[in-house]
Amino acid sequence: MTTFLATWREPGETAVETAWNARKAGSDLRTCIEHGLSACELDPRFLAIGLGSLPNADGELELDAAMMDGADLSAGAVCAMRGIVPAITVARQVMEKTPHVMLAGDQARRFAITQGHKPRNLITEEIARRYEEWRAGVVPDEYIHSTAELQHADTVTMLGLESTPSGPHTVAASATSGLAWKLPGRVGDSPIVGAGIYADDEVGCAGATGLGEELWKACASFRTVEAMRRGLSPQEACEDTIRHMLRRQKHAADMACVVLALGKDGQFGAATTDGTFHLWACQDGNISVHEHTALTL
Ligand code: GLY
Repeated sequence: MTTFLATWREPGETAVETAWNARKAGSDLRTCIEHGLSACELDPRFLAIGLGSLPNADGELELDAAMMDGADLSAGAVCAMRGIVPAITVARQVMEKTPHVMLAGDQARRFAITQGHKPRNLITEEIARRYEEWRAGVVPDEYIHSTAELQHADTVTMLGLESTPSGPHTVAASATSGLAWKLPGRVGDSPIVGAGIYADDEVGCAGATGLGEELWKACASFRTVEAMRRGLSPQEACEDTIRHMLRRQKHAADMACVVLALGKDGQFGAATTDGTFHLWACQDGNISVHEHTALTL
C-alpha cells in the first residue's frame, strides 16, 4: 500500500501524479516525493514554488525546502537559497550527504553546486513584470502572501506512506518560495522540522502550508503528529492544531494556515484557519481531491 498527499488544487495534482508515476517505475518513497515536488518547482505556472514564483522585496527568489524520513527521524533542509532548483533535491542531499539538518542562503547554494546543480536565473518574464507592477505600487505597497492573490498556489507539502515488511514507513517534505514580496532573508515554516513537516513511523506524518510565521509559532506539524500519538485520528489531530492556533494566535486566521496529516494506518485529514483548502490524495494510484473549509472556534 502506498499513499501520497499533496497540497493545493493545481500543484497538488501534479505532485501526486508525478510521485505515483515514479512509484510505478520502482522508486523508493523519498525519490517519489522528491520527483513530485521537483515537478512543481520546475513548472513556472506555480507561483509559490521554484522557477518562476513570486520573489522577495528585492525581486530575488529565495527558496526553502525540507525532507524528513519517519524511519529514523533523519531530516535535511535548505533555506533562503537563490538560483538553484529543485530546492527539494538539495534538501535531500543535505539529509543524505552531510551530518547537518539545514544549510542556509549562499552556503546552501555553494553546497548545491558541489553536488552538481547549475545556478540559473529563476525569474521569468512574467514574474519580472509582476514584480515591477508591485514595485510601482499597482499592487499595494505591503508584504502580501501569495495565497491572497492565488488561493491554489501556496507552498507544496507532500506526505507519503508505504507498507514495508518491517511496518509502515513515512516521509514528509515541502518546497516553497515563501511569502511573495517578503523581506529578504525571511524564512517561513516550510524548511523547519516540526513546523512545516514532521514524520515518525511510530505514528505517521504531518505537514503545513500557508502563513509560515503562525504555523512555525505553533510547531504545527510536530503538534499534529503528537496529537495522533495521543490517539486522535489524523482529521481530529489537524482540527486540534488549527483550533489551538485560532485560540492562541491572533493572526492565525489572517490568511490560511493549513495542516495535513497521514496516519501510519493510511487514514488522512486536513484543516485550515481560513478559506477553502484542497488536499490531493493518491492511494495505490486512485487519485482524489478533498475540500476543507475554514474551522471556527
Ligand atoms: N508556508 C510557507 C511560508 O510561509 O513560507
